[in-house]
This record gives sequence, structure tokens and C-alpha cells, in this order.
Amino acid sequence: MAAQAAESVLVFGGSGQLGSEVVKAVAAKGDKVTVFVRPTSKLDLLEGVKVDRIDGDVMKEADVAAAFKKGKFTVVVDALANDRGGPANFYEMSEVHISKAVKSAGVKQLILHSSVGAGDSRSIYPQDRLADMVAVLDSKGLGEKAAVGSGVNYTIIRNAALREAPGPEQAKIYEDHTKFGAVSRKGLGRLTAECVGNPACNNKIYHAVDDTIPLRAR
Ligand SMILES: NC(=O)c1ccc[n+]([C@@H]2O[C@H](COP(=O)([O-])OP(=O)(O)OC[C@H]3O[C@@H](n4cnc5c(N)ncnc54)[C@H](OP(=O)(O)O)[C@@H]3O)[C@@H](O)[C@H]2O)c1
Repeated sequence: MAAQAAESVLVFGGSGQLGSEVVKAVAAKGDKVTVFVRPTSKLDLLEGVKVDRIDGDVMKEADVAAAFKKGKFTVVVDALANDRGGPANFYEMSEVHISKAVKSAGVKQLILHSSVGAGDSRSIYPQDRLADMVAVLDSKGLGEKAAVGSGVNYTIIRNAALREAPGPEQAKIYEDHTKFGAVSRKGLGRLTAECVGNPACNNKIYHAVDDTIPLRAR
């Protein structure tokens, strides 16, 4: 079988705890990785990993548009998280900026990390935590909408809780939007790498769960 051509992957949030696991897994598979990070960002979690870097603020549409002029990317991954004190519409606006840029840049796949509780999964979110999380989940839902409307193949991977696995991670993706459970960042990194450039993941919304991770009572 012919080897799959290496992808050129731009990872937003690549310096973060989830993003760095994504970067490591994607780079290990042989794809070329570029991270979009703020000028102040430290790449400590990526020590020893070969990545290119583009500086910018995802809340500035012009910074995001400029990133796509600095390289030719075939796949984009959004693993961003809002800072404490960041705007309430962070997840919506960051994904709106990314979604606007990908189509004209010729990107073939956009992978967005989102949360269970966004979009059509609201009803399975623990009701006792909803009041605290509703603004974030609403913003993530609007971010999902932007990705779906981007005009490129989208893959949305939702998580409900991020926890370390007690042993080797066994994360899986489910098309069942009632599937609820914890998953590790490492597991999400591997699942993302498996979806990069994989047509089977096109235009899908998944829930990622590792059933080996105990979940506190809902
Ligand atoms: N369900 C759960 O239990 C749970 C728990 C935690 C997180 N999460 C979710 O998991 C996802 C990833 O979280 P994480 O733990 O990886 O977060 P994290 O470690 O805080 O990483 C956040 C990333 O976003 C980047 N970022 C933030 N604002 C930016 C901006 N304006 N411009 C450019 N980059 C920006 C950060 O870059 P810098 O290096 O510049 O800071 C960093 O790379 C998020 O969707 C989060 O909501 C879920």
C-alpha cells in the first residue's frame, strides 16, 4: 500500500496542555506541524518536538488571516482554551476567525476540540454544573456552528472531563452524542492524529471517552 502523504498541520493552542499532546501525536505520525501561539507563549511542553511557530492573537481576525499567508496548511486543529479573564465569547470568536480563513486558504480539514454540553449534547450535561458552565458551553456551541459552516470538512471532538488514565490510555470516539465520560489529553492527542487527513472523520461530531477512567458521579 502506498504511504499516506504527510499533512501540513496548523495547531491553534499548540502550547497548551491538550494542544501539546495533539502536536506530539501528529508530529510522531510524520506530519509537519506549525503552532499558532501568542508572542508571550512558551513552548516548554513541546521540548524536543520539531515544530514551526507563528505568533498571533486568535482574537484578532487579521492575525489569524495572516497566519494562513505564512504557510500552506492542509489540516487545522483548534485546541484553544480561554484564559481566566478572557472574553466570554472566546470560543465563538476564535473559531469564527479560523473558520473564515480555512476555506480560502485551501485547507481540507478543520478539527475542533469542543465540550460535551455544547450543541445537541446539552441535555446530557450534568444539570448541577450547568449554571456555572452555560456561558462557556453556549460559546463552544457557536464555535461548533462556525466550524460546521466553514465550507471545509470538519471534525468536532467533544470531551466531558479531562483526566489522566490509570493505565495505558484507551480513548475511543463515539458518534453517539449521549456518550458521557472522561478522557485523557494524551488519548485526545492520539485520536486527533488518527483523524488528521482521514476521510472517515470528515463531517463528524464525536464524543471522546476512555472507559478505563473513573468518572465522579454526575
Ligand atoms: N472538561 C474538562 O475537564 C476540561 C478541563 C480543562 C480544559 N478543558 C477544555 O480542554 C480544552 C483545552 O484546554 P487545555 O487544558 O489544553 O488549556 P491550556 O493548557 O490553558 O491551553 C490553552 C491554549 O490556548 C492558547 N490561547 C489562549 N488564548 C489565546 C489567544 N488569545 N491567542 C492565541 N492562543 C491562545 C494558549 O496559548 P498561550 O501559550 O499563549 O497561553 C494555550 O496554547 C479547552 O477546550 C478547555 O475548555 C476541559
